Amino acid sequence: MNRKGIFIFTVALASAMAGVDAQSLRVDLKQRGHEVNEDMYGIFFEEINHAGDGGLYAEMVQNRGFEEHVLPRGMVYRDGKIYAPNLPSYATHEKADWSDKWDMEAKKMLGWRVEAEGCRVAHEVSEPEYPLHKNTPNAMKLEIDGAGKVTLANSGYWGMAVKEGEKYDLRFYLNAPGYKGILTVEIYDVEKGKTVGSETLHPASLDHWTELTATLQAASDARHCELRIVFGASGQSVMWVDYVSLFPQNTFKGRENGLRKDVAEILAGLQPQFMRWPGGCIVEGATLDNRVRWKETLGDPMTRRGEWSLWGYRSTYGFGYHEFLQFCEDLGMDGMFVANAALGCSFRNGDYTDDPAELERYLQDIRDAIDYAIGDPSENEWARRRAEAGHAEPFPLKYVEIGNENFGPVYVRHFNYMYGKLKKEYPQIVFINTMGGNDDEMKDVVKTDMVDPHWYVNPDFFFGANDLFDKRQRKDFTVYVGEYACNAEVGSGNMLAALSEAAFMLGMERNGDMVQMASYAPLLVNVNQPNWACNLIWLDSYRTMGRASYYVQKMMAENRPDYNVQVNLTQTEPEKKSFQEGTVGVGTWNTQAEFRNIRLTARGSTREVSIQELQGRRGTWKADAGVLAQSSSENCTMSALPGEGYEEYTMELQARKTGGTEGFFVFFGLDEASRKGYVFNIGGWGNSGTAAQTVDGFSTGNIISPTVPVTIETGRWYDLKVEVRKDAATLYVDGKEMCVAHAPSFAKQFFAAGYDEQAGEAVIKVVNADTVPYKTRLVLDGAAKVNASGKVITLKADKATDENTLDEPEKIVPVEKAYSKFARKFSYTFEPLSVTVLRVKTTR
Ligand code: AHR
Repeated sequence: MNRKGIFIFTVALASAMAGVDAQSLRVDLKQRGHEVNEDMYGIFFEEINHAGDGGLYAEMVQNRGFEEHVLPRGMVYRDGKIYAPNLPSYATHEKADWSDKWDMEAKKMLGWRVEAEGCRVAHEVSEPEYPLHKNTPNAMKLEIDGAGKVTLANSGYWGMAVKEGEKYDLRFYLNAPGYKGILTVEIYDVEKGKTVGSETLHPASLDHWTELTATLQAASDARHCELRIVFGASGQSVMWVDYVSLFPQNTFKGRENGLRKDVAEILAGLQPQFMRWPGGCIVEGATLDNRVRWKETLGDPMTRRGEWSLWGYRSTYGFGYHEFLQFCEDLGMDGMFVANAALGCSFRNGDYTDDPAELERYLQDIRDAIDYAIGDPSENEWARRRAEAGHAEPFPLKYVEIGNENFGPVYVRHFNYMYGKLKKEYPQIVFINTMGGNDDEMKDVVKTDMVDPHWYVNPDFFFGANDLFDKRQRKDFTVYVGEYACNAEVGSGNMLAALSEAAFMLGMERNGDMVQMASYAPLLVNVNQPNWACNLIWLDSYRTMGRASYYVQKMMAENRPDYNVQVNLTQTEPEKKSFQEGTVGVGTWNTQAEFRNIRLTARGSTREVSIQELQGRRGTWKADAGVLAQSSSENCTMSALPGEGYEEYTMELQARKTGGTEGFFVFFGLDEASRKGYVFNIGGWGNSGTAAQTVDGFSTGNIISPTVPVTIETGRWYDLKVEVRKDAATLYVDGKEMCVAHAPSFAKQFFAAGYDEQAGEAVIKVVNADTVPYKTRLVLDGAAKVNASGKVITLKADKATDENTLDEPEKIVPVEKAYSKFARKFSYTFEPLSVTVLRVKTTR
């Protein structure tokens, strides 16, 4: 790339140079590049993996309001499952009938246990005649018979942890007409079998719903406690218990209904400049009815209805809109509110409304959210509510995303309508479109401030995508990479994942004119109930742990330069990869097809492959009269030739489409389990083009060739030939060469450099993804003076597969060291498998 006024990054390959010493990195401080936005690095919060309830939100009681079993709005329950209404999806235009399993009885008692000693007790979670609050009508009914002791215990989010000397505020409601027995509340250490704090309560009367409170002080540290409410029963009584809440007094910044201190602190450690809330898919909802409604997240937590999160558990809405905005203010972050665009989640039901009056209601809901955050209380009802909640001053809301991962014509229509109105009314807000920004999808978008592409990929993709934004054409909108993570082929998130993310992030940073913001996803996981493969921060009830990826995020944010400077690199040739050895196969995607006359040339001989030899791995396959037919509409059907793999081979065959929306798959380089390999997707993407892709576990992945305009007609036999050599695979259709795929290859070192005005320092970032040291000569051009003393921050691991764990949280952490050998020209050896930041004091 070479654009006027834009940062120039040059890579000169020095393949002929012998040895690593020949490499040099020339940083030209006089060649100022793009600015790096102050809000470049932020965080994305969603109620997934118990990130809020059982995570950041400090409430210690799980299922505090006995509402866990309440069905998602708009769904029905039948035979152990919940069902969404059968409505057309905006994405497929076909009726969707999304469903999920639902264990009603287990949900009712989630977190709770009832025990009797010396008496009998019956218990039931249901709606009393006079509920505590209409929004949260369910409660626990206890019917006690006899003299003895009844314990109602809650085990929290897989154990409650307390700290010696700290105080915990208990609040609960009891409606127990005539109950006269003793009432004790305690925190009980289950591991050690002892009470660590208790109080006896003496309520005057319990004839109606009565709020009871107590402060319990922990006598010792304990990691695995439960909260117990103990009734000393002396006869017959019927009582209702509701909204049982236990909160540490020591929340982050001491806020009421606040956040777990250690979790908030590890987030603060990322120095995030913005926060996106409340999601993610939950913004859209499994159905529209199930979407997050921010207005219901306000007020006394006891009155918050909550809603089932499509990640499989109920969200209490305890960490609501007000708490989110407060957290933004506390950490000095700009707020990003994600609004529903009148579309449900396309991965679930994808239902939507196009009714103008409804659309107007969704739009008004966005206006109200903006007003709640930044409006004037003397002029606006929602701003007045903010003031009443104790915050008369505006909150730092700066961004509004219209939808989440929505796309297609319905979304574009809704977006154009909403953006058109909102931008005029709130010109100070940056509005974000949820699509990736490519020309085709954006062609009907009238105007947007930003777009939001997401990437959940394998390491190769991110290493390869280091220059993705170098090559992208600039448009009149900027880019927010709202969700990204290397979460495939990297265990639970190892050093290789972190290195590849670092490589990708350097590319984003270098292209600061275009990529203005980025946030990793998902942010948090309670390890006792994960929903997602790789998450940035792990926690349980008493620990938190940042993965290597966490430290990459932290290093990038702590060392964000004000602007880039030019880096010219002389580098050894990137390692060339070859296609993995493997076998061949045929298949389809949502298409029916027939295959015949298969011939394989390998190891110097050619043979006819009998169709009986191919084994159906997915789809409905039938071999008859020399034709192998696939008749299902499944995605990624596969019939593969079993046996050992080949290194270089040619497969020829004939294929005919008999129905469906696409063309054919010809697999190559498939491993024995037929899980990983490559495919020529002929007439893919709704029969719009042909390209080679990676394959992993019956799912297609990265595109590794140009996409060519080959489409497939129904009913016609095509002659196909795939020729596989070590580093290239070629597809021929009807005798003509159509598409060449090269084995994916990427460099092992990645770079960016910039200048930090305030510190007066050049900031040079280098990722060495190689397993050997990377020795290079650095030249600081354009520096008036270079101070020999500076610092070096290094994150490294011994093995690419190394991971931090809760038991070994500091296996991979950045180490900062003073360094005294900086000069205009100096040599530096970057450690194997490392991310390094050099901070050099220099004047330009
Ligand atoms: O981060 C997890 C999910 O991934 C988000 O909810 C969604 O936006 C994406 O599909």
